[in-house]
Amino acid sequence: MRIGLAGVGRIGAFHAETLRGLDLVDELVVTDVVTDAARALADRLGVSFAASPTELLASDIDGLVVATATPGHAALLRQAVAAGLPTFCEKPLAATLAETIELAKLVDASSVPVQVGFQRRFDSGYGRVAAAVARGELGFVHTIRANTHDQAPPHATYIPTSGGLLRDCSVHDFDIIRFVTGREVASVYATGANKGAPFFSEAGDVDTAAAVLTLDDGTLATVTATRYNGAGHDVRLEVMGSEATLGVGFDNSLAVTSAEPGAGYPTGARHRSFMERFLPAYQAELKAFAEVVGGHRVSACTVGDALEAFRVSEACEVSRREGRVVRLDEIDTL
Ligand SMILES: NC(=O)c1ccc[n+]([C@@H]2O[C@H](COP(=O)([O-])OP(=O)(O)OC[C@H]3O[C@@H](n4cnc5c(N)ncnc54)[C@H](O)[C@@H]3O)[C@@H](O)[C@H]2O)c1
Repeated sequence: MRIGLAGVGRIGAFHAETLRGLDLVDELVVTDVVTDAARALADRLGVSFAASPTELLASDIDGLVVATATPGHAALLRQAVAAGLPTFCEKPLAATLAETIELAKLVDASSVPVQVGFQRRFDSGYGRVAAAVARGELGFVHTIRANTHDQAPPHATYIPTSGGLLRDCSVHDFDIIRFVTGREVASVYATGANKGAPFFSEAGDVDTAAAVLTLDDGTLATVTATRYNGAGHDVRLEVMGSEATLGVGFDNSLAVTSAEPGAGYPTGARHRSFMERFLPAYQAELKAFAEVVGGHRVSACTVGDALEAFRVSEACEVSRREGRVVRLDEIDTL
């Protein structure tokens, strides 16, 4: 099969390496609005090149991977749906809730398979937690702790179009909390702070945030995010139940130093970025997408999932701005 990739920035160039190595992919064609960047990547990886997204879409591809900056997602997704092209779209589908709802409706009304880039769903640790919760091995789940702490901020130009920390980073936690519990979020309270570079507050964003979620079965969850975790890239989840507790991210790469005297844990090298932390999950999600394109499986992360996670982010942004608890039924939906 021929797969097209639009956007060769941080995540696009990284995805290109996985895509060209997949057994199901015979040819990878890359493009970017910065033509030279796409040409350079194509030369480096020995893959094909299209001079523009329009040329890419007209080039008889079997599936499209959208890894452009967020403002580029909607137009490409609309064109792909119109062309009946199975599409993998990086999160978020769009920068606003209104456009996310419109895209979800468009995709739902079509028969075009779309997979959204929540790679944690393909991570073995989160998968084990979801299976254990579903089998009742934890008893009743009462408390969840989730965090996405980046070691260092992305480039300053990324921030104004990122949608903000809660939509850009915590959205992964909101999605995975839905995934492991099978529950929906009922209400949120969120707040944020800025102690780092001024470009966050200049964009109306925060560099650190915390949210308390109440799920529809009464489970409580805390979610934290920061762009400044000097200790390393730290993504973890703890799910606590009446019978047992399971954690993800508690291996020897854990970016926490124990203050206990004599504690020898953790002993390994810490992750510096999401690419290192989730490499197997990113590889698995793109392999799954190729299988979706080939008609061998259905999307494991739909536009409906993306919309629900985005609605939680949106509720958190409203809560952060207005300083109050926000119920999810206040947030627009399909
Ligand atoms: N799933 C994840 O873990 C994860 C991680 C990082 C980024 N992302 C998402 O991936 C997307 C890209 O993030 P990034 O960090 O790679 O950003 P980036 O700024 O490094 O790269 C974006 C690239 O898209 C190109 N581009 C912009 N508009 C385009 C268009 N209309 N057509 C073609 N190319 C276009 C830019 O020239 C640039 O090369 C964002 O939506 C982000 O939310 C997801």
